Amino acid sequence: MNHILEAPFVREMCHITANMYRMGWDERNGGNISWILEETAVTQYLDPNEVLRTLPLSFDASALAGRYLIVTGTGRYFRNVERCPQENMGVIRIAQDGRSYDILWGFEHGGKPTSELPTHLMNHIARLRVDPQHRIVMHCHPANILAMTYVHDLDDRAFTKTLWRMSTECIVVFPEGISVLPWMVCGTNEIGEATAEKIRDTRIVLWAAHGIFGTGRDMDEVFGLIETVEKAAEIYMKIGGREIRQSITDAELAALCKEFGLTPREGYLDL
Ligand code: 13P
Ligand code: ZN
Repeated sequence: MNHILEAPFVREMCHITANMYRMGWDERNGGNISWILEETAVTQYLDPNEVLRTLPLSFDASALAGRYLIVTGTGRYFRNVERCPQENMGVIRIAQDGRSYDILWGFEHGGKPTSELPTHLMNHIARLRVDPQHRIVMHCHPANILAMTYVHDLDDRAFTKTLWRMSTECIVVFPEGISVLPWMVCGTNEIGEATAEKIRDTRIVLWAAHGIFGTGRDMDEVFGLIETVEKAAEIYMKIGGREIRQSITDAELAALCKEFGLTPREGYLDL
């Protein structure tokens, strides 16, 4: 059996958490990631019959029965993942009845998966329904997008349109737009359900005064989505209260979509 610390999925998690920390998106234990792994990738490194612990789930995750995921640990710091992967994350498998999960590796010294596991699993279920190639849920706390949720209307369409206008590439990167949730208590099934409801239509959901959830097929897609949204929010916050003299018009946004062969979210552009 190959050593799990050399597994590409462990290396990638180390690499991405270190990058996210360097971007300033993950202070202290802020942020969490979960990634659905193929069984064949996992069993090259782990014996699927060797279960370390089994923990309960407080909702029905049977749509993910038998799925393996690598998940960051609750209370763990992204800046420490690279130097001690086995303490700061782990591999889990969802039980057949969707009411518990097995820990197969990691979470050493009594650790557990992120407190946002309900939202992660509910998001995976929702995204897999619309995209069978979906694999990753990433959550973090980038400063500018968070700041923007204090000063901007939280309406999905209004928020999306402001971001689309902040930088030309935005509508190309997220033509479906983004969704926003008002402030809610985090770590609960309720916020998970509300997020999953919105993540069906947009790969990005913002939590007002908290952070961002991004989803996608691979790390580059998800990291790139969050990076693009955060950059647009940075431009918005840099403009601040100053008068906007010119911007990208809806006709120009439509022309961009036409050029790139993309369909913008229906009803968002006034043409
Ligand atoms: P965890 O440490 O449980 O992953 O929580 C961090 C966080 O960002 C909560 O939203
Ligand atoms: Zn958070």
